[in-house]
Amino acid sequence: MLKKAILPAAGLGTRFLPVTKASPKEMLPIVDKPLIQYSVEECVRCNIDEFIVITGRNKRAIEDHFDYNCELEETLRIKGKEAHIPELNIQNDLNFAFIRQSKPLGLGDAINCAKAFVKDEPFAVLLGDDIIDPDDTLLADMIAIYEQYKSPVIALQEVPLEDVSMYGVISGELVSGQLYKINGLVEKPKVEEAPSRLAVIGRYILTPDIFAELDVIPPGRGGEYQLTDALSLLLKKRVIYGYLFKGQRYDAGDKFGFLKATISLSLKRPEYTEKLKKYIKELASGF
Ligand code: G1P
Repeated sequence: MLKKAILPAAGLGTRFLPVTKASPKEMLPIVDKPLIQYSVEECVRCNIDEFIVITGRNKRAIEDHFDYNCELEETLRIKGKEAHIPELNIQNDLNFAFIRQSKPLGLGDAINCAKAFVKDEPFAVLLGDDIIDPDDTLLADMIAIYEQYKSPVIALQEVPLEDVSMYGVISGELVSGQLYKINGLVEKPKVEEAPSRLAVIGRYILTPDIFAELDVIPPGRGGEYQLTDALSLLLKKRVIYGYLFKGQRYDAGDKFGFLKATISLSLKRPEYTEKLKKYIKELASGF
């Protein structure tokens, strides 16, 4: 059973300045929940209950969000607003560990910070910028593939050619349905050098042997230690699968992607569905 997830949350959020100057981007709200909570809830739906959050400077709010707030609960009780208390305690029955990545050395380095805590178990990695529609079952599907093959599984999405340079891109062969056997990976290639339009998106099921590769990779694209480079090394030793996701993903680390996620996920909240549809129609009639 896969029980652990690593949530890298040390990034500076430069795509989202100025709000990320003093606030963690992982705490940006979509409706009333911070981005990182969507990742946690996605894991909880897959029975993952151990979280290793890789944080950095200016990220204290994340720890506070997944902790009890005794004073707030007491105040809510006194004011007769205890109905809110259950929604404050998503951390009940979950275990959180917070590790600080002391320098912004990249995703590979961030994941390597969790090495001592993962030990010899497989684990999920969720990049919180990528919000997967909560009605989709991407992570559960990836875990099922892992259970079947006992091999790492990476989520893929077909992206427009002009966007490949924002992603890790794979070459691979279709095994069946949405499953690819990966032959090669390259981090943020130039359009003319991209091996395909199959981009790595922020969901991975990894095995602990990735840590040995993370230990030996040199700095890669952007001078950072890249997970993609460690996966390329691992690929020489074992099979890695790619799972083509056909559902809805939002890049909420990008301002426009965040707006789209906010609108779409608000429309899924029963208390706002009709009101928001009406409002959008009103707005659109003025375009
Ligand atoms: C990271 C990975 C990249 C992947 C992307 C998915 O890049 O390095 O391979 O395609 O996440 O969101 P980042 O967006 O953190 O620069």
